[in-house]
Amino acid sequence: MLIKTRSRSDLAENEVTPEPAYLSRRSVIKGLGAGVGLAGIGLLGANTRALAADQAPRKPLDFRPQKPAPDLVLTPDEKVTNHNNFYEFGTGKTDPAQNSQGLKTEPWTLTVEGEVEKPGTVDVWKLMGEIGLEERIYRMRCVEAWSMVIPWVGFELGRFLKRFAPTSRAKYVAFETLYDPEQMPGQRNRFVGGGIDYPYVEGLRIDEAMHPLTILSVGLYGKTLPPQNGAPIRLVVPWKYGFKGIKSIVKIRLVEEMPPTSWNRLLPNEYGFYANVNPAVDHPRWSQATERFIGPGGIFSVKRQATLPFNGYGEEVASLYRNMDLRKYY
Ligand code: MTE
Repeated sequence: MLIKTRSRSDLAENEVTPEPAYLSRRSVIKGLGAGVGLAGIGLLGANTRALAADQAPRKPLDFRPQKPAPDLVLTPDEKVTNHNNFYEFGTGKTDPAQNSQGLKTEPWTLTVEGEVEKPGTVDVWKLMGEIGLEERIYRMRCVEAWSMVIPWVGFELGRFLKRFAPTSRAKYVAFETLYDPEQMPGQRNRFVGGGIDYPYVEGLRIDEAMHPLTILSVGLYGKTLPPQNGAPIRLVVPWKYGFKGIKSIVKIRLVEEMPPTSWNRLLPNEYGFYANVNPAVDHPRWSQATERFIGPGGIFSVKRQATLPFNGYGEEVASLYRNMDLRKYY
């Protein structure tokens, strides 16, 4: 198993600001109680209208911490949780934090089916208590050309999928978000939901799904995920654009054929199946060569920096795509 310590994916020395508040808080955390399209806009600064006080409480998680690289800058919790894409709750960046607080995440089940010898349904809250959670501090790159560094808590998707004994016909993994129009206004109204055909779906090739960097996340900053970040369980694939990170997952299906994905279905010329971070391939409407890092500090401190191939995780994942033309398979 691979825990990232320091590689090219980490930020340079001159971009540092430590996050001491988080580090000290983390050391005391213990015990789990029980037709639009993405646009290159919406950079946040202090624009965090949804206040923490209005938000659903998050439970502390019991997890194995990752020793952060000494020069790693984390995006503050309040920015990670107030600048979101979750179109089921509206297309604005603060809509998810404002509109998702009533999402009922307990109980929550996740079904794994399809090309597996042992299909089954798990209670996600029980799973969190028994699977052995670990922290993964990942650099995240959004297709909208902003980036964050987020301390996720979760477990390797591959380790989880092996419990269900994938068959040799399992070539892809298809994911599905909860479909519940009563709770999700974007599913009731196409305008609110950005024209996506719900439920939101995503997919990975089986080798991508089994890669040790690919996790199912159940928390961030040491606590359970807030609804706007995909509670109680969502996908995180750090070398791909953020839209691959499907939220509030209820079903995983192992399949033989490449499954549909929501953004590819909506705008196939703009969003491919692979969605690997690639500074050499521009989005048709904007460049992917650089990104704005959202860190501590106000809007004027937001830095533009070069985007790295595979978001800086090339050493770990480039071999998965050795013989592929990544301009064609974007
Ligand atoms: N999952 C669902 N179900 N619905 C969505 O609209 N948006 C995606 C992805 N997962 C989305 C989703 C997009 S476009 C991005 S950039 C990431 O979630 C954002 O994750 P974050 O809000 O936790 O940063």
